[in-house]
Amino acid sequence: MSLVCVADYESMAKRVLPKAVFDYYCSGADQQETLADNTAAFSRWLLFPRVLRDVSSVDLSVSVLGQRISMPVCVGATAMQRMAHPDGEMATARATRAAGTGMMLSSWATSTIEEVRSSAGDGLLWMQLYIYKDRDLTLSLVRRAEEAGYKAIFVTVDTPYLGKRRDDVRNRFKLPPHLKMTNFGSAELAFSSAEGYGEDSGLAVYVAQAIDPTLCWEHIAWLKKNTHLPVVVKGVLRAEDALEALIHGVDGILVSNHGARQLDGVPATLDVLSGVVSAVAGRCEVYLDGGVRRGTDVLKALALGATAVFLGRPVLWGLACQGEQGVSDVLELMRDELHLAMALAGCCSLAEVNRSLVRRPEFTSR
Ligand code: FNR
Repeated sequence: MSLVCVADYESMAKRVLPKAVFDYYCSGADQQETLADNTAAFSRWLLFPRVLRDVSSVDLSVSVLGQRISMPVCVGATAMQRMAHPDGEMATARATRAAGTGMMLSSWATSTIEEVRSSAGDGLLWMQLYIYKDRDLTLSLVRRAEEAGYKAIFVTVDTPYLGKRRDDVRNRFKLPPHLKMTNFGSAELAFSSAEGYGEDSGLAVYVAQAIDPTLCWEHIAWLKKNTHLPVVVKGVLRAEDALEALIHGVDGILVSNHGARQLDGVPATLDVLSGVVSAVAGRCEVYLDGGVRRGTDVLKALALGATAVFLGRPVLWGLACQGEQGVSDVLELMRDELHLAMALAGCCSLAEVNRSLVRRPEFTSR
């Protein structure tokens, strides 16, 4: 079967993965309304191209937190990648480096911070951080990321508890016995408890036990004080929260609804992006994730003010289909699609991508 778009990789991943694994990767929270809306939102915006602008050469490169990358498409944090392929995060790191872009490693990876660094060589890595009840443990993850040359901390702020993913409850989701979250020493913290996790989604039980639901803005200031790395808050949807983030010294904001896996019924990220971008008014970089599946999706997000986008599930589909090669293929497919979309829209570089490039359909005929 020839795989020509991200949707093809998803169909194939569904065929090759065990059902409980595919369900964990694919699911959104509750009724999955936001899950559907994250992708649908991109179709509510239309591209409004310019013509006759010599697009024989198109430059996709961009800077993220001062690091130059080959395209504004990065790899987002997704947990437990060894369920998709035995090489897991290490394969993703190699493919991301080959693509010349950056990878955000999940705290809940099934490969260690250090293993992923050695697979990535000199590639660009960022660390996604969950703030644990145990603050020393939390800071030890930060220290390890610093020592291994990761370039930023993306602190997830939308997960005081885990969203209710119905299939994970039905499947009593837990890691297969040969895997664990290898960044942690004890079986409890590595999500491989011998006692099991009862009748619920195992991950929901894990989060309730280990992750700190008391988190508030002071903890962002605390994190800033405790690392020399740039801190990005991951999971902001409202302008007010973007302003709080700036007050507390963040270096970037990732507009995200956690791939629709936390609170169902929230807006698609694309629909709230410009509100955040206007509030921030250039004081830090703003990124987006959620539902990005096509080159034109990337272009629309950039036109609405994102500096770069992150891919969650598409990378898992590539990994499940063909390991490192599959992730490379998905990243190159996104690059080709974005390149073509830019050229057909009359843009030679990202500097030429601006708000005038997108319109909502109701306004296009006026
Ligand atoms: C995630 N996401 C996530 N986020 C995070 O901060 N830490 C994590 O460990 C994970 N793990 C995770 C696992 C899986 C299977 C998925 C699908 C998602 C959220 C992720 O970083 C990102 O916000 C979304 O995946 C983006 O949406 P798309 O591209 O999947 O639609």
